[in-house]
Amino acid sequence: MGGRLVAPETDGAARHAYTHGVPMTEKDNKMQHHDLPMDNQWLPFTPNRHFRKDPRVFVAADGMHFTTHDGRQVIDGISSLWCVGAGHNRKPINEAIKKQLDTLDYATAFQASNDQAFKAAQMIAQMAPGDLNKVLFCNSGSEAADTALKVALAYHRARGEGHRNVFIGREKGYHGVNFGGMSVGGLPANRKVYGAQLLPRVGHMRFIHDPVHHAYIHHEEPVWTEDPLLELETRILALHDPSNVAAIIVEPVAGSAGWYIPPKGYLLRLRQICDKHGILLIFDEVITGFGRLGVNFGADFYGVVPDMLNFAKAVTNGVIPLGGVVCRDFIYDTMMNAGAPEHVIEFFHGYTYSGHPVACAAAVATLQLMKDEDLFARAGVQGRVLGDAMHSALKGLPSVVGIRTLGLAGAVELAPAAAGPGKRAYDIMLDCFRRGVWLRAAGDNIVICPPYIVENAQIDQMVQTLADSIRQHA
Ligand SMILES: Cc1ncc(COP(=O)(O)O)c(C=O)c1O
Repeated sequence: MGGRLVAPETDGAARHAYTHGVPMTEKDNKMQHHDLPMDNQWLPFTPNRHFRKDPRVFVAADGMHFTTHDGRQVIDGISSLWCVGAGHNRKPINEAIKKQLDTLDYATAFQASNDQAFKAAQMIAQMAPGDLNKVLFCNSGSEAADTALKVALAYHRARGEGHRNVFIGREKGYHGVNFGGMSVGGLPANRKVYGAQLLPRVGHMRFIHDPVHHAYIHHEEPVWTEDPLLELETRILALHDPSNVAAIIVEPVAGSAGWYIPPKGYLLRLRQICDKHGILLIFDEVITGFGRLGVNFGADFYGVVPDMLNFAKAVTNGVIPLGGVVCRDFIYDTMMNAGAPEHVIEFFHGYTYSGHPVACAAAVATLQLMKDEDLFARAGVQGRVLGDAMHSALKGLPSVVGIRTLGLAGAVELAPAAAGPGKRAYDIMLDCFRRGVWLRAAGDNIVICPPYIVENAQIDQMVQTLADSIRQHA
């Protein structure tokens, strides 16, 4: 395979071609897809049979670009699934990881900890709003979802309300693929195979999209005339009785479903309903956390402090898996003061790799880099450029039925093709990849969510390529 790679030129600045410190030429990098040993990896969330005929394989990345196995430069229009806020191959993060590997490669997480985990938790708590101060680490957004649900049950039990065991999520919500997150999640395709094995006693609020009045949302909070939370109070809570409800979990902006933006006042009202009934409010900020909306968290953007806040992805720039749940002080205090002797574990939960020192060193370096380069603010500024570009270039194109932009992300919604839901968006995603732009298909949406370092010309390239492809697939 050779591993001879070429660094792309980004931001107009010539960079040195290299790999492992050895200068290369682009010609050296080409690889045929039949050179790849594709027999053994079962790809996640991918149509494997079609992939084998038309593989998309990345072998290097730098700044805004990937190098593919066949030596092409492809712009990363989705921050590698909302992860790579600071762009690829960032030296301060890489160096911190290398240093950590040479210092403390790993240490057991139970009955002991490590210096990097404490540092990372402190930085995250300082960034989180209100008294969201206690960080439980895990390794992914899925684990964060299940961790938060378990905290909710354990907390209520510790305060003598163990009967509170109902969870409420939302239609089209995504909280990962483990059983807890899948149960409170609301993406039908992710749930339908698992039927009766999903958690019992879960309710789902209605989806937060109004395609009639708010198909086009341009960096604003849509004002609904009807109250989307009326059914929560009058139907869902009434059915279960609010005194039985442990927690409500939502994404501040629904990311995986295709960037759906909540109505004005929605999250504040949800906060008030939870307070009224003693229900914990969990924000799943795996996508909205760490700058995507131009500020630290969705909680800051909307001015609403949840009781737990889940994170993953951008916390390490995606470089090493790390996730977590930040809890408000009262949750931790309740668990600590539940009356057990001091030698007894207060919360029987954790992962072998909770607070892994290398992942935490990556988080410390990432969050420092984001701060040094003021990247969250940059995401806010470039988000406006992206929003303007998407609305002006895509609105009115054939098959476009909606565009929603907020922060540094936007989705264009397409009418489903005759061949079935999702087919048009899938074809457009593949076509854009062939044209050098990597975007994401989510149902009938195409989503753009580039790294925060994205330049105006690159936004233009992505949006124009998408526009051309939409025209071709009308
Ligand atoms: C809001 C949200 N929660 C949870 C997850 C699951 O994260 P992971 O894939 O790291 O398990 C995702 C992934 O996209 C997400 O967007």
